[in-house]
Amino acid sequence: MKTSLKISPLAAVEAECLAVAVLDHGEPRASEKNDKPAPKIASADAAVNAAASELLASGEITGKSGETALLHSPRGLKAKRLLLVGGGKAKNFSAYELRHAAGTAARSLKSRSIRSFAFAAPEGTLAAAEAVRAVVEGVFVGDFDSDTYRSDRKDQSLHELTVVAASGDAKTLERALEEARILGESQNFTRELVNEPGNRMTPTRLGQRAAEMVREVVQNADGFRMTVEVYGADKIKELKMGAFWSVAQGSDEPPALIIIKYDPVGAPDKPVLGLVGKGITFDSGGISIKPSDGMEKMKYDMAGGAAMLGAMRAIALLKPKVKVIAIVCATENMPSGKAQKPGDVQIAMSGKSIEIINTDAEGRLVLADGLCYARRLGCTHLVDAATLTGACVVALGMVNAGIFSNDEETYQRFRAALERAGEKMWRLPVDDEYREMIRSGIADIVNSGGRWGGAVTAAMFLKEFAEETPWVHLDIAGVAWMEEQKPWIAKGPTGIAVRSLVEFVRGFEK
Ligand code: BES
Ligand code: MN
Ligand code: ZN
Repeated sequence: MKTSLKISPLAAVEAECLAVAVLDHGEPRASEKNDKPAPKIASADAAVNAAASELLASGEITGKSGETALLHSPRGLKAKRLLLVGGGKAKNFSAYELRHAAGTAARSLKSRSIRSFAFAAPEGTLAAAEAVRAVVEGVFVGDFDSDTYRSDRKDQSLHELTVVAASGDAKTLERALEEARILGESQNFTRELVNEPGNRMTPTRLGQRAAEMVREVVQNADGFRMTVEVYGADKIKELKMGAFWSVAQGSDEPPALIIIKYDPVGAPDKPVLGLVGKGITFDSGGISIKPSDGMEKMKYDMAGGAAMLGAMRAIALLKPKVKVIAIVCATENMPSGKAQKPGDVQIAMSGKSIEIINTDAEGRLVLADGLCYARRLGCTHLVDAATLTGACVVALGMVNAGIFSNDEETYQRFRAALERAGEKMWRLPVDDEYREMIRSGIADIVNSGGRWGGAVTAAMFLKEFAEETPWVHLDIAGVAWMEEQKPWIAKGPTGIAVRSLVEFVRGFEK
């Protein structure tokens, strides 16, 4: 999708369609029922307000999020159509709602085969640059569709987006637009990887995709070095990654240990940020096999790893002066005569012994060695992302990811990054008291803490391998895949965490 910026009065914008947000300024009354909507265009532009006045007065559009109304040949405007998009309550309106409104506009126009449009950056509550960013990010999110393998698939992808600002510094806004495009494209790169089925996105293929991505972004490498290494079983054994290998040993597909190093010229030696991703390309559960209902979804068990690859792509293009190393531990989790069994004891790279209680708790095993390796490579801060536990989905549903940390300062940094990225995560604890739930009678720890607090005991397990290094763990099991489409996003992979990870890295520059 081509993106461009225009600083212009809205009436003068020539486009197939001009989209503007509508906000509900209605004050809540005593009861929700009396809560009369008072929709208003989020722009002071007189021509647009005049063109939309009848439609607004009709009550057909209230400003509710997800709502759209399309007007042909709007009077007084150069645009061929005017699309009104609900942005929710005016008093709650933020970049988060604007992303949704922009995504809603994108999806509603795509489905009408309108492939190029202009979106008016709302005036008022948001800084112009922030508004431009949110529009671009939202439209990229909305543009993605997951029906890749349908033979009757119509490619409905958007061709062109123009973001219109009424005023502002062109240079600042151009920069915001460009950065947002990089973030949006990188998030969609992650979503493409996650969308692929397990037979196509094997660990080997994931390694190839990582290498191809790096090759592409280093073409305009200027001011940084980026290297990629993809190792197989031999190196995993040589590094004594006994936890990672214990999962990989059961599969006929070779595992892949993917390492990407980003080294900008002039960056300080420290920090070195380590991004460690769970890359289970299919999780059958192994010998502790999962029930067949819904097992097909376990192709998205590499969403954490894919998020790290998308983040590295964006980092190479945005070039923050901070060292970053990404590690993706990719393997299938399969039952076979070679597969590990409940009761087996494995020795992780760090030397810790692990009693396997449940072979379906495999994500923490591959991450244990990934985190350990990141520390060996000199990482001073660790972030991992993983579709780690069903328990996290039980706790937080499909709205918030779980976030855990052993270090207040690093947590606060990530919190701030979430805010800038507009992604939702809710903190869960890693108190010492939970440690006893993963004690083993025969080894240092067990890989499954049982029924209660499953998201927390999984995090406690990872914490053992982060050791003293400041660490943030993101459990994205509930939010990496949309079960149902929303007006602003297709069903399927979401690309969660990509934007926050990039913002987290950029936060160290300041
Ligand atoms: N990949 C799953 C977690 C998962 C569940 C991701 C639902 C996405 C949606 C993970 O490997 C797993 O199987 N976890 C087990 C852990 C248990 C055996 C301790 C779980 O959550 O049931
Ligand atoms: Mn599992
Ligand atoms: Zn898994």
